[in-house]
Amino acid sequence: MAVLSFLSVLLVLCALVLWKRLITSRGRKLPRGLKKLPGPKGMVSPIITRATIRRLSQSPSQSWAQKSLIILYFTGYPIIGSVPDVPEKNGFIKFSDWAKEYGPIYQVNLAGHNHVWISSDEISRDLLAKKGAIYSDRPHIPALIDDNRTAAQYLPLSSKNDGWTRQRRFANVIMRESEKALFYRYPELEAKRMLVELMDEPSKYNHALESFISRVTCRLAWGHSEANEELKQRARELLIGVSPTGALGNKIPFLMSLPDWLVPAKAWERRRARTERRFFELMQQQVESDMREKKAPQSWMRMFLEARSKWGFQYELEGAYAVGMHGIAGALTIAAPMQTFCLAMCHYPQYMPMLHEEIDRVCGDRLPRSEDRPNLPFLRAVIRECLRWRPPVPTGIPHYLIQDDEYNGYHIPAGSVMHPLEWAIAREPELFPDPEAFNPLRWIDPSYPTYREPLTQYPTIINSTQFGYGRRTCQGQAVSDEDLLIGIGSIAWLFTLCQHPEDTATSQPPDTPTVEPEATNGQHGIRIHEKASISSEELNAGLNEMEPAPTMEDIILTKYVYPGQYPDDPKPQIEEHKPVQPTLERVTSLSEKPGETFKGSKFDPKTIDPTLDFTTLLIAKPMPFRFQLTVRDQKRAQKVRELFNEGVENGAYTPSREFWGENHGTDKPLGWGKV
Ligand code: HEM
Ligand SMILES: *[C@@H]1O[C@H](CO)[C@@H](O)[C@H](O)[C@H]1NC(C)=O
Ligand SMILES: *[C@@H]1O[C@H](CO)[C@@H](O)[C@H](O)[C@H]1NC(C)=O
Repeated sequence: MAVLSFLSVLLVLCALVLWKRLITSRGRKLPRGLKKLPGPKGMVSPIITRATIRRLSQSPSQSWAQKSLIILYFTGYPIIGSVPDVPEKNGFIKFSDWAKEYGPIYQVNLAGHNHVWISSDEISRDLLAKKGAIYSDRPHIPALIDDNRTAAQYLPLSSKNDGWTRQRRFANVIMRESEKALFYRYPELEAKRMLVELMDEPSKYNHALESFISRVTCRLAWGHSEANEELKQRARELLIGVSPTGALGNKIPFLMSLPDWLVPAKAWERRRARTERRFFELMQQQVESDMREKKAPQSWMRMFLEARSKWGFQYELEGAYAVGMHGIAGALTIAAPMQTFCLAMCHYPQYMPMLHEEIDRVCGDRLPRSEDRPNLPFLRAVIRECLRWRPPVPTGIPHYLIQDDEYNGYHIPAGSVMHPLEWAIAREPELFPDPEAFNPLRWIDPSYPTYREPLTQYPTIINSTQFGYGRRTCQGQAVSDEDLLIGIGSIAWLFTLCQHPEDTATSQPPDTPTVEPEATNGQHGIRIHEKASISSEELNAGLNEMEPAPTMEDIILTKYVYPGQYPDDPKPQIEEHKPVQPTLERVTSLSEKPGETFKGSKFDPKTIDPTLDFTTLLIAKPMPFRFQLTVRDQKRAQKVRELFNEGVENGAYTPSREFWGENHGTDKPLGWGKV
């Protein structure tokens, strides 16, 4: 019986494969005078002949299931396209490497769809922005069931339809209004809690940073911070749902057309969508009840409810989704650059004193405030460089082409999925000399091509390529800007970050009490990157050991004198890398489970840069690592604690709330899914 049903499934699959192949071959005609975009082929290898397949399938040592899979794999290979060539881990590096081979715009067949990868800002603008009329749709995400591009649920995934237009209008208003009010100073409020958490439990720095972002976002969305843990979980689960490397349904789309009982991934998605809907409803109801009692803090939801009819939403729940989606979009994204900041400060310690100098000069013994922005160009340069050096969304978020187009004599067929490949765009060598080096000076030194005046406004992350192109650009730029200025500014105001003494030979004499984050991912030796250069060959061959030659940075740095300066000799101490051991700490990170960390990927920490150890979902978040977090000034530490305690007494810092009962409802119809 089981064999029979398995056979019938197989039959359906084979039919599907043949049908797909028919469709793709029909659409292959090129318009006269146009060329096909270059790109990797991803075809059946000539060695795999029918005879090979027959031999494999007749081999007695394999089970039925294995044989079927082998046949399916080889017959399906042209449809899978280049999928097997793309590693799960750091796929964006593979796509950037292909750009070096095939040029700044190339196409690749992934699972039967045409994907176009753009590695230049200019081409991205020419297509995605200037031709926004045809390039502003979104591709279908197969793993999401209840939702789709017409459901007016997820603004970032929505087709360019009426639902998108009205939600985008709504988003513009709530963003503009809250920006005008300096985001109700929620970032400044939560910064104090974050600093106290960092002092108390430095080894949980990742948790502290993510909670900071999530709490601010939660307050912005609904006026309270208690739902922050839930919001993070909602964001994690949706990320899995939408990531090409997350839910199984995105890797093998036809699974989603099979019955639920056969595909646990489908049941998982149903439960996720149900839980999310309930969460959004509960949050909306809470703000409604707060408003009835006239004690609702400022929030996007309050703005929605105060002018319900103004937005033209079709049903009440649309407002819940419109606000909730912005909560989810902001829950984790902004934490990634904060984690990158920690990473950068450990590997490029020369910039830490410069940052301290500026913050001390501008803020003195009080915490950084929103109004300090114009006076903190170096802090803004560091933030801008974090976004460039390790883009939080390295592959960009794809657009979808709705009608045939041409570019420079190349044909781009309707239905192409367009990827502005931020990882490569942020590394264009003409614009970013020595692109692999973390170098904030490129934003504040006039001799760099990216320098821009006035320094009271630039550098800024606003309008940077990392926020996308044309009509679909990110709605959260101003929030991100505020959170990062206050968040990173506050950390730099209170702490010195540097490598763990055991990880480096160039350790500093600590004269203030030191809190040491515990080892969170094994004991790999981290080295200082004076200049890092990465290309695919070097990546594979290990880190490039460059001779330090006097560079722009060296020259400028000699102008800076600061107390407690780092050792004069900047020569990097090259140590042997030890493999990163997945530890329990990694469970708390976005996607990885212990033991599964490097599964199916070519990532080998022995040979590649440890600063490229990222999670694999859409948001590239640096993996937890150990470093030293030192309080710079006990008076400041004392002050932060006092301010925090005051807040606790006023009821400003309530703990987070559980929504689904015990164990986050793991076994109930509503609750946290396995991630
Ligand atoms: C560092 C943080 C962030 C990064 C790097 C980022 C990046 C992006 C990118 C690349 C896109 C797609 C743009 C395109 O299609 O061309 C996007 C869209 C979007 N972002 Fe962000 N984002 C961040 C933070 C936020 C925050 C905090 C919010 C909300 C509070 C937000 C809300 C949105 C929304 C609603 C869209 C969809 C716009 C549309 O499809 O029309 N983002 N973001
Ligand atoms: C898309 O979503 C809407 C609303 O949730 C639903 O009515 C419709 O059936 C969905 N369409 C598809 C193709 O899933
Ligand atoms: C960002 O772009 C918008 C629209 O093009 C423009 O109005 C705004 O001034 C720009 N902001 C910055 C800081 O460059």
